Amino acid sequence: MLTKNAEGSAVLEKPAQRETAEKSIAKTATPAKNAPKIFIDGQFFGEADAKVSVFDHGLLYGDGVFEGIRFYNGRVFRLEEHMERLWDSARSICIDIPMSRRELDEALLETIRQNNLRDGYVRLIVTRGVGNLGLNPVHCKRPSIIIIAATIALYSEEVYRRGLTVVTVPTRRMGPATLNPAIKSLNYLNNVLARIEANLANADEALMLNDAGNVAECTADNVFLIKRGRIMTPPITAGALRGITRSVVFDIAAELGFKISEVDLTRHDVYIADEAFLTGTAAEVIPMIRADGRVIGNGEPGAITTRMIARFRELTRETGTPIFPE
Ligand SMILES: Cc1ncc(COP(=O)(O)O)c(C=O)c1O
Repeated sequence: MLTKNAEGSAVLEKPAQRETAEKSIAKTATPAKNAPKIFIDGQFFGEADAKVSVFDHGLLYGDGVFEGIRFYNGRVFRLEEHMERLWDSARSICIDIPMSRRELDEALLETIRQNNLRDGYVRLIVTRGVGNLGLNPVHCKRPSIIIIAATIALYSEEVYRRGLTVVTVPTRRMGPATLNPAIKSLNYLNNVLARIEANLANADEALMLNDAGNVAECTADNVFLIKRGRIMTPPITAGALRGITRSVVFDIAAELGFKISEVDLTRHDVYIADEAFLTGTAAEVIPMIRADGRVIGNGEPGAITTRMIARFRELTRETGTPIFPE
């Protein structure tokens, strides 16, 4: 439930008080259209006032975790899986999220309502919190929670129809012994460097290899190849994030009668694939038609990829956690 604090900002009440009031929020709250409302630690702020301390270790050290979550047609897609991964990432780096799962679900849904959106993208961030200039997190007393709801379109519909190009970049995906890529942390410099290299090569995405030279993933997407009807993707141990969209593709494949093999893949496998596609919350399911200048298959999105995209789009429209009371 929203109340106003002394400064006049909208405040999300404590969950016990919120319980009964939740139902009335969507009816009574009348957020100004086009005025973004950003959630920070239980309060909503306009874009210009949504600020965190320069001493937050999320800024000073990239010390924190996050999720990117999409919502479609008034429903949040795979909310539970995203929350589970957020909690896993936080647990792995010893951040104790200062809200319960239910409270955070509600805060996320309320942020979307406050922004009056039915389709879009939420960035959910948990930072280590305010500490001193030293990196030791022991001085950071309380993690901060930030939720931004917006819209996002990484690629035009044209790219989904024709497919995208990738280059293998010099920057290798970090291995689990360095910084485990399974942790969705705020520390994305490894991916950012790869992205810069793809930009410099005029490619749409960067194909990142691990230290062994096998395919790990792209900068924010998992990689799938199809050869003679067999769908393959690198195992998590190759340095791939356990993508939520990746797991949706596993579900769709089972539904369509395809088996997916998690196997080590080389650049050679990419070059000789009949079809290839990438998956990610922001990019969704998108065909890949060229790698390092080589044409993949016949250079057009393949039949299995096209079926995968169609079913994925159906699922995003038809399933998910309702944002507004139904
Ligand atoms: C490095 C990386 N790999 C893969 C993915 C795809 O994961 P998901 O489908 O959960 O968005 C992402 C995006 O979150 C990512 O940042």
